[in-house]
This record gives sequence, C-alpha cells and structure tokens, in this order.
Amino acid sequence: MKLRHIILAVATVLGFAAGIFSVAAQPSTLRSLGVTISPATNSSVSSTPVYVPDVSRENQPLPDSVIAWNSITQTADATADQDFAKFTFDFTNTIDKPVTILNVHTSCGCTTAELPPVPWTIPAGSNGTIKVSVNLAGKSGIVFKSVAVTTDQGRKDLLLRINIQPPVVVNMTDEQRAAALAAAKVDRQAVFKGDCATCHIKNIEGKMGQALYESVCGICHEAEHRATMVPDLAKLTVPTSEEFWRTWITIGKPGTLMPAFATSQGGPLTDMQIASLAAYLNLVHPSQVPVPMTTK
Ligand code: HEC
Ligand code: HEC
Repeated sequence: MKLRHIILAVATVLGFAAGIFSVAAQPSTLRSLGVTISPATNSSVSSTPVYVPDVSRENQPLPDSVIAWNSITQTADATADQDFAKFTFDFTNTIDKPVTILNVHTSCGCTTAELPPVPWTIPAGSNGTIKVSVNLAGKSGIVFKSVAVTTDQGRKDLLLRINIQPPVVVNMTDEQRAAALAAAKVDRQAVFKGDCATCHIKNIEGKMGQALYESVCGICHEAEHRATMVPDLAKLTVPTSEEFWRTWITIGKPGTLMPAFATSQGGPLTDMQIASLAAYLNLVHPSQVPVPMTTK
C-alpha cells in the first residue's frame, strides 16, 4: 500500500501543476508536500476526469449508518490441525451515494483479505463481501486478528477471534499400545513411518515452538497414559540448557524409545524447527539443577 501513497503523491503534484485539481480533496497530501493551500485557486479547466480517491476521512471512524455490516466482530472455532480459519464480512451501503473502499489492511502476513481490486466503489444501496482467511500454522490457543477497511467515508476495523482447540488426545487401545511399543523397540524411528506417522507427526509443516512441541513431543511426554519410561520433561534431575534440548531432539537416544528428530538422522524436523523447540523448552523448563561450570 506504500506504492498507492507514492502514486497518490505523484498524481497530486501533476494534478496541481495542471490546475485541474480539487484542492479540497487532498489537503493532507499537499500539506505533507509543503504546499500552502489557498482555497480560491482551484479547478477552472478540466479535460479528462482523473479519478482522485478522497482520503480526507481515512482516519475517521466509518459510521454504521453509512456501511451496515453483518457483524464487525466474528469468532471461529478451529481444530489444532486446521490450516485456515475463514470469515465472511457482508455489508450494505445504506446512504444515497456511492462509497469507495480505498484499501484493506490486515494485522499480519498470516491474514489475507479477498475483495475486488481497489478502489472498489459500492453504489448506493448495494451490497459487498470481504472474505478473510487466517493461516493458522504455528498458532495455538486464542488468536486475535484485525482487518482495517479504509473508505472515502471513514475507516472500520473488523475484528477476528479464533479459538484453536488443543490437540485431540487420541487414546490407544492396550493392544495398539503393545503393538506400537513392540514396533518402537525394534526401531525407535518407527513413529515417523506409515500408520504411526498419522498420529505422531501430524501437521508439522511450518509449525514452530510450542505448537510443534504439542504435536510431536507432547504426544509421548504429556500423555496421561504414557509408559513409565517416558519422563516428565518438567521434572528432569539433570542440568538442562538450550544445547541439551537441541541434542536430545536431534539424536534422541539409541536403544530407547526416544527417537531422533533431525532430518539428518532420518527424522521429520528441520534444523529451524529443532532450534525453535530448544528455545521454547529452555524457556518453559529452565534447568531444575544448577548447570555446572565447565572445568577441564
Ligand atoms: C515416541 C515417544 C517419544 C516422543 C515422540 C518424544 N520422546 Fe523424548 N523420550 C521418550 C522416552 C521413552 C525417553 C526416555 C529415554 C531413556 O530411556 O533414557 C525420552 C527422553 C527424553 C529426554 C531425556 C530426559 C532425561 O531423562 O534426561 C528429553 C530431553 C526428551 N525426551 C525430549 C523430547 C522432545 C523435546 C521431544 C519432541 C521433539 C520428544 N522427546 C519426543 C519418548 C519420546
Ligand atoms: C491413534 C494414534 C496413534 C498411532 C497410530 C500411534 N501412536 Fe504411538 N502414541 C499415541 C499416544 C496418544 C501416545 C501416548 C501414550 C498413550 O496415550 O497411550 C503414544 C505413545 C507412544 C510411545 C511411547 C510409549 C507409551 O506407550 O507411552 C511410543 C514408543 C509410540 N507411541 C510408538 C508408536 C509406534 C511405533 C506406532 C506405529 C506402530 C504408533 N505409536 C502409532 C498415539 C498413537
């Protein structure tokens, strides 16, 4: 949208020089260009009408009596493995003249708005729809996003709330558990393969930190019915550090059920994902015992 402002500024200068410009429409832009405005000097000749968006009200609230929305705050529920949350904002121009949408800004790169090209003019009495989609990769818990709609009649902030459910706890039957254990004892990397992968490394692409921990580590380490050999990571009795976490995640422990997660070891996680986990774990589970000074 920066480009728009540049184009606008250029158009302003050209328009002003040609004397076809309505000064009243662009006071803020002119002021920012250091031009002093004398109200009497405008528009005598006009050949080709140039579309000039009226941005004079971009910082004022857009009254609901001008544009009526189906709702300006919307909530959606999402499951932990859902990729996108989608919203539809319907509106009606309720005044007797056109309203022009000048631009739509979202609060983050993960949120995209779908609408006709701007400036989008909505005739008097007509309806329109803005569809919004939020990419949920790496997100968990309650997420708030907003979309700012700027029109020539003022600006409206649309608010989104997404409740992301915690990952579903899948319980295995005793037989399944016994079979899984047997498979893992033969090959600790079995969890990343075939059927096992559908639960153990579900939807990990693009996930980082806490959300990734919940999917790939929590399934074993946070499980209520986990086997006794799976330790509680919050209560480790050895000194821990970011390096400690990184090493464990990268190579696991041969001869146990703790798999190696690094791609270099045949695991599913990128170096960046492993780094994000190590940083997250070091933060939430600081070492319970003093880390010894390295003396050699
Ligand atoms: C398939 C189940 C499983 C998964 C998934 C798993 N672990 Fe483990 N983890 C284990 C088991 C079993 C042990 C105990 C190994 C042993 O016997 O020493 C263990 C041990 C550990 C230890 C060593 C704790 C100590 O006692 O010093 C750390 C640290 C650890 N896991 C971190 C993780 C992290 C982080 C993840 C996610 C990237 C993860 N684990 C995923 C099963 C799992
Ligand atoms: C239906 C989803 C699901 C599938 C499929 C699955 N697991 Fe698991 N796995 C779990 C859950 C949940 C736990 C946590 C312990 C529990 O609740 O039983 C777990 C725990 C484990 C553990 C830690 C030991 C324990 O019992 O706590 C190992 C090892 C393991 N799984 C290996 C495997 C292997 C190997 C396969 C494929 C043969 C597999 N799993 C398939 C959901 C699954």
